[in-house]
Amino acid sequence: MTTARGAGCGKVILLGEHSVVHGRPALAAGLSRGATAEVSASTDGLTRARFVFDTAEVDVLASQDADHSLGRALAALLATYTEPPPMQLTVRLELPAGAGLGASAAMGVAVSAALDQHLGVTRTPEERATQTLAWERVFHGNPSGVDNTMAAVGGVAFFTRGQPLEPVRVRRPLVLVIGHSGEASETKLMVGLVAQQLEREPKRIGELFDAIAALVRNGRLAVEAGDLRALGQLMDMNHGLLSALMLSTPRLEDLCHAAREAGALGAKVTGAGGGGCMFALAADTSAAHTILAALQSLGAESFITEVGA
Ligand code: PMV
Repeated sequence: MTTARGAGCGKVILLGEHSVVHGRPALAAGLSRGATAEVSASTDGLTRARFVFDTAEVDVLASQDADHSLGRALAALLATYTEPPPMQLTVRLELPAGAGLGASAAMGVAVSAALDQHLGVTRTPEERATQTLAWERVFHGNPSGVDNTMAAVGGVAFFTRGQPLEPVRVRRPLVLVIGHSGEASETKLMVGLVAQQLEREPKRIGELFDAIAALVRNGRLAVEAGDLRALGQLMDMNHGLLSALMLSTPRLEDLCHAAREAGALGAKVTGAGGGGCMFALAADTSAAHTILAALQSLGAESFITEVGA
């Protein structure tokens, strides 16, 4: 039996999460870690998938009425194909789930790529980004599209909802240290909380989003110029504004503080917040190891990654 394979990468939002849902730009980077998927023909007439996580395995049937959101997401993605035959999938996640690193999008993109290979469909990464929105909507309700776009395209990019992705040329690779708070974060919930704040105080929250947009535009210039110090300062400012939106937690504050104390050029929450991950920008690999040790000494599962190399 032949097996088709696909992969999707995780992402880190360098600047601009949440405001990106409301039309402002974000600066994001694809991670080398993500998800992989394998697809082969089914022998029992049903489409089913096994999702293999760090600590658990989940078996689902593809159905829009499935109890598990992964079964519904799979059904939503399959609905974008014309009469797909029954298939058997195995999906492996190399990232923590529910942590702000775009795990669901990485899985959706990996599944789409493997399905396309199995079914003989050709699609550009940008087309895959659009197709996998159907998958993301099951988890996020109102996704900006940044996660699935970065999962499909990778690299460092300037993203604005509904507009073509603008790749960013990275003058100096960014050495990042990602730390997990150990607290679960639910994107749908956090996006909903921010939307409520915007509804209650449109002027104040709108201005806050505009301030984040200015940080994002300056961040892009800093990345293009290789000005890591400036990028770090912009990250700290963005973190402050995310805290003002009540997206940080005492644990995330402790981790960001520890990273800065250990020499990080900047540190912030990434992704939905309310838990999940923070990341710090290091001047170089040696500095990254010092920051990593500081985060680990607080018990945070952490890793170093380089983007734009
Ligand atoms: O937490 P994650 O990896 O799902 O990232 C969410 C990013 C948000 O900006 C909060 C939502 C979105 O759809 O852009």
